[in-house]
Amino acid sequence: MPTDQQLAQEDIATQEVATQSGSMRSDGGAGFSIRDLNVYYRHLHVLKGLNLDIEPRKITVFMGPSGCGKSTLVRVLNRMNDQVDGFRHTGQVLLDGKDIYDRDVDPVLLKTKVGMVFQKPNPFPISIYDNVAFGPKIHKTYKSKEQLDDIVRQSLEKAALWEEVKDRLKTNAMSLSGGQQQRLCIARAIATTPEVILFDEPASALDPGSTAKVEELMVALKRIYTVVLVTHNMQQAARVANKVVFLYKGDIVEVGEPPGMFENPKSELTEKYISGHLV
Ligand SMILES: Nc1ncnc2c1ncn2[C@@H]1O[C@H](COP(=O)(O)OP(=O)(O)OP(=O)(O)O)[C@@H](O)[C@H]1O
Ligand SMILES: [Mg+2]
Repeated sequence: MPTDQQLAQEDIATQEVATQSGSMRSDGGAGFSIRDLNVYYRHLHVLKGLNLDIEPRKITVFMGPSGCGKSTLVRVLNRMNDQVDGFRHTGQVLLDGKDIYDRDVDPVLLKTKVGMVFQKPNPFPISIYDNVAFGPKIHKTYKSKEQLDDIVRQSLEKAALWEEVKDRLKTNAMSLSGGQQQRLCIARAIATTPEVILFDEPASALDPGSTAKVEELMVALKRIYTVVLVTHNMQQAARVANKVVFLYKGDIVEVGEPPGMFENPKSELTEKYISGHLV
């Protein structure tokens, strides 16, 4: 099983091919339409006929008990499950109207549009600067050292980390705190100019102060990008979500908007989950 760090490195590394074969990127955050999606790991039916729209430049939050399929669903959105043994799907996952699983879609190209931030911060054990410059260097998306410096600075600014690291860009990224490392990973994702950023429990390993920073950041990022967030934290969902999707055993039980969905859930299952009576 590759680690999240290896997956991230592969993701960025494989984007070189994508850049060489031309970009399918358009301006602004893109939206997803999921139609009749079933996902299986061998004989295990994990996602069961899902239909869902993920709106551009909004924060869509996936919630539900452990094992209900949140990570599977979020990973389907940038084809990160393709390499998983026994993974298969039926149905459609449309990004701006185009099925990302169509034969003529290069999964490598897709990953230039849909970035991912993992639960555990996974910076590369190189300098802060080189972490952010990693993707642009592979893509060769800059013409001069000054331009690369600009990309690195702007990405760190957008990730609300610049002020804390501007005087130690050559320091190894592993010397940063967990919260800073997570913001560095967000800066690394931003540096490759995605349209969608997927966050799978990005703050669950962070202290409350760092969590607040990551939350503020997600709210700021949705002005530019489409954001999808998996979280177990109800308060966090209530603070940042435009739309909450509640999953249970591979089904979508309820889709709603906070705070209404938390105060007055339509489904009994959602209510039980919110009150901590659903495992
Ligand atoms: N690589 C895999 N191979 C086989 N089964 C898997 C794999 N990954 C997940 N599963 C199974 O698919 C189901 C959904 O798992 P998933 O990781 O999507 O749940 P989750 O909602 O993210 O849970 P958690 O809140 O614990 O992270 C579970 O039954 C899990 O055991
Ligand atoms: Mg998960």
